[in-house]
Amino acid sequence: MDGNNFIFFLIICVLSWRMELLKAQMVPAMYVFGDSLVDVGNNNFLPVSFAKANFPHNGVDFPTRKPTGRFCNGKNAADLLAEKLGLPSSPPYLSLSITNIASHLTGVSFASGGAGIFNSTDHVFGQAIPLSDQVDHFMSVNKILMKRGRSAAQNHTSKSLFAFVIGSNDFFDYFVSSNLRKKNTPQQYADLMVTTLKQQLMRLYAVGAQKFFLAGVGTIGCIPVERINNKNHGCNAEHNFWALKYNDGLKAMLNELKSELQGFSYSYFDTYGIMQTVTQSASTYGFNEIEAACCGLGELKARVPCLPFATQCFNRTDHIFWDKYHPTEATTRIVVDTLFDGSSQYCVPINVRQLVSG
Ligand SMILES: *[C@@H]1O[C@H](CO)[C@@H](O)[C@H](O)[C@H]1NC(C)=O
Ligand SMILES: *[C@@H]1O[C@H](CO)[C@@H](O)[C@H](O)[C@H]1NC(C)=O
Ligand SMILES: *[C@@H]1O[C@H](CO)[C@@H](O)[C@H](O)[C@H]1NC(C)=O
Repeated sequence: MDGNNFIFFLIICVLSWRMELLKAQMVPAMYVFGDSLVDVGNNNFLPVSFAKANFPHNGVDFPTRKPTGRFCNGKNAADLLAEKLGLPSSPPYLSLSITNIASHLTGVSFASGGAGIFNSTDHVFGQAIPLSDQVDHFMSVNKILMKRGRSAAQNHTSKSLFAFVIGSNDFFDYFVSSNLRKKNTPQQYADLMVTTLKQQLMRLYAVGAQKFFLAGVGTIGCIPVERINNKNHGCNAEHNFWALKYNDGLKAMLNELKSELQGFSYSYFDTYGIMQTVTQSASTYGFNEIEAACCGLGELKARVPCLPFATQCFNRTDHIFWDKYHPTEATTRIVVDTLFDGSSQYCVPINVRQLVSG
């Protein structure tokens, strides 16, 4: 080997060693806020919540083959994103002991099925942990992290990923509540969702959070529970319209925050766009069933939830939806691949890989 070749060889070694490190762990921790799309079991600890999933057939494809409280046949978006980051799945906040500092260090999930940006969504789903309480819970975690020293905690927080998947339940609440509709037009309501979310992001920024991932609201008008109320099982166009309006507001707010707050960086993900693409080109993604849930009973398996006595579909990987509200693990994998490595068609202004390596 001559000198040039040797240097080239060294560079390759260093690069692949760096790649290994990156693969090993891209951020120190991921803190997850949101609803049932990312709940990993917090609601198991709520005494009177209806929004639970710790019973079969949930979890049939989870590594343990057991229900865990995830609203899915297998891993959910929080699990799959943690995998991409080289982290273990963030454990549910309510499962942790405050005396165990180490258990908080690679991330915690505050997400709760039925939760919304507003405090009020548990009118529909029974008890849930609303976003402002989820952020309060992070503040408690932050106090635990501070026990390792203020500057170590700040360093940790500033490099960690703060992931948000929330907003759908606020709309479900609005669509069924005549009281909410009397108080606000849909546009006012969507705007209020955005400003309320902004306040929570600013609270986290104030204690050192800098890297934010936010998923927009998906095609909520096309979930099985909405389709059964429409002619020919079509999507609810009005509900989809307001999801898009909210997403526009969210994108504008994030862009504003970036220009106002030193060091604030974010990745917005167009959940709506990817769900629309997957639905329209279902067969190219391996799906044969875009309307019906896999687990449930009745029309589109969406009249009765995925309870233990409900029936399951034959093939869980060719269904977009697991139950009347939630996607299958198969769909979720496509979504998470896209939010992690997708182009600017879906990831604005950057994808999660770029966010965490910046
Ligand atoms: C900051 O955090 C990173 C990631 O956890 C770590 O590698 C680095 O050593 C920390 N730096 C300081 C000064 O604590
Ligand atoms: C939600 O409840 C918390 C107390 O748990 C309160 O501080 C906050 O102002 C409430 N937010 C809204 C939007 O009502
Ligand atoms: C289930 O569906 C997937 C995706 O369409 C397909 O590849 C697989 O062969 C199907 N499995 C069975 C047992 O039919």
